[in-house]
Amino acid sequence: MYDFAASSTQPKPAFYRELCAAADALTAGETDGMANMANLAALVWHLVRELNWAGFYRLLDGELVLGPFCGKPACIRIALGQGVCGTAAATGETQLVDDVHAFPGHIACDAASRSELVVPVIRDGAVVAVIDLDSPRPARFDAEDRAGFEALAALVSDRI
Ligand code: SME
Repeated sequence: MYDFAASSTQPKPAFYRELCAAADALTAGETDGMANMANLAALVWHLVRELNWAGFYRLLDGELVLGPFCGKPACIRIALGQGVCGTAAATGETQLVDDVHAFPGHIACDAASRSELVVPVIRDGAVVAVIDLDSPRPARFDAEDRAGFEALAALVSDRI
């Protein structure tokens, strides 16, 4: 068992440096991407506050397919360009959504979700997956969360 602790009361940049260090330690040397995604979802779930869903969708044969996650059961397949995840995957750009109800085409997997951050994972210039974070609090995510999860995505892009 691994027992990582990163204080969520410290400034976000320091918190995300610790989160990335834990993610690095957890995935270094393991070649099975599914195992790494499972542990990363659990790590984020336990260390990041105010989430009701945290996990991965993988880009397979031109659509997003549900990967390892923590939270309520979710929709399995998402077309490119559809919802927040499909938009992130289609554009290769992080989607930071303060109010999911105001996002055209938002896919409600958990009615509790109010804000969302979706970060594409890019390997060799192509999107291979997205990291999806949902929060029950409106405007839960800011530019520092975005930077932190973009750093995490870059760190794990060749390990998932
Ligand atoms: N809300 C996402 C769907 C995935 S769930 O949040 C887990 C979207 O609009 O793409």
